[in-house]
Amino acid sequence: MSRKVRVGIIGCGGIAEGKHMPSLAKLENVEMVAFCDIIKERAEKAAVNFGIKEAKIYEDYRELLKDETIEVVHVCTPNNSHCNISVASLEAGKHVMCEKPMAISSDEGKKMVEAAKRTGKKLTIGYQNRFRTDSQYLHKVCSNGDLGEIYYAKAHAIRRRAVPTWGVFLDEEKQGGGPLIDIGTHALDLTLWMMNNYKPQVVMGSTYHKLGKKKGAANAWGSWDPEKFQVEDSAFGFIKMENGATIVLESSWALNSLDEDEAKCTLCGTEGGSDMKEGLRINGEKYSKLYTEKVALDSDGVAFFSGSEESAADLEARLWIEAVINDTAPIVAPEQSLVVTEILEAIYQSAETGEPVYFKKSN
Ligand SMILES: NC(=O)c1ccc[n+]([C@@H]2O[C@H](COP(=O)([O-])OP(=O)(O)OC[C@H]3O[C@@H](n4cnc5c(N)ncnc54)[C@H](O)[C@@H]3O)[C@@H](O)[C@H]2O)c1
Repeated sequence: MSRKVRVGIIGCGGIAEGKHMPSLAKLENVEMVAFCDIIKERAEKAAVNFGIKEAKIYEDYRELLKDETIEVVHVCTPNNSHCNISVASLEAGKHVMCEKPMAISSDEGKKMVEAAKRTGKKLTIGYQNRFRTDSQYLHKVCSNGDLGEIYYAKAHAIRRRAVPTWGVFLDEEKQGGGPLIDIGTHALDLTLWMMNNYKPQVVMGSTYHKLGKKKGAANAWGSWDPEKFQVEDSAFGFIKMENGATIVLESSWALNSLDEDEAKCTLCGTEGGSDMKEGLRINGEKYSKLYTEKVALDSDGVAFFSGSEESAADLEARLWIEAVINDTAPIVAPEQSLVVTEILEAIYQSAETGEPVYFKKSN
């Protein structure tokens, strides 16, 4: 692969610096040529650390999009700007990797999917947990039908006390919600992908603003300011799929629970089950005996799986850029992310009204 893909980064904060830019920097077929942030110093710093020598700095993403030599844009801004920036980027002829969650509403998500279809450009969402070694292995297990029909699943996104206190995570308008849209989105994406089931029928949800009101609370990133804590601190969903399968989604940034687990799923099928505790475990029954197998996830441990030295973030970036170069579909399809967005929205809606939210029957 001789050609280099010219990439522009929009939003040079935490996730751009922690995930996108370091992973893209490892790829020989990528050059980061433009950086945009409304805080100019962040774009400048990113350009120095990750850009080519002639990298350009922007404070307005619309100016960056005028550069016709840029083929790919990574959107790493707060949630409420994902839709506008992604649609504008697709319309400017760029392929788009947008951070999760896709958008703050299903209407916005639909606009993004439509823009990708209209322009013929690729759109993907930054669900890097699909690219972990355990997830990749479990996906093979599920695709192979080893668990049979998966009719019950749990999507886990529970932190005992880890409320993100930087940036705008607590701001309802900018983020569109709290832990449900922030980390529940990862767990649900992973669960639906394993089940290969994107047809919800009905959703019930509850959200809570309980611990967010506490002053001086213990927290991994320092006490939060209860005045600024506008979003929910916990949210739970009960999702019934058209084929009768049930998914329970648990999400929290602060919960009095020792059952902490994030971006994980438990799957229960007719032939076996799995959970992501102690790595990855598969359980089942053979000759009237129950078994639980712990899957060795290092490269030596699994015979038919090559294992991977790459981190989830590196694999996500590499496969995305390869999809662009080879003109193939990205692993995270925008239509799948739209279903995640619709379910999260339904949980919020049900929590507000106290009523179940029914989906239109698919064809
Ligand atoms: N994949 C993951 O696991 C993961 C983890 C953390 C954050 N995220 C997502 O990444 C996004 C950003 O989160 P973050 O933690 O990096 O936040 P952050 O606040 O650290 O960074 C966001 C950056 O965007 C800039 N910005 C805001 N509006 C802009 C605009 N219109 N044009 C250009 N720049 C703009 C801000 O100045 C800031 O530097 C969020 O959507 C968040 O959900 C994903």
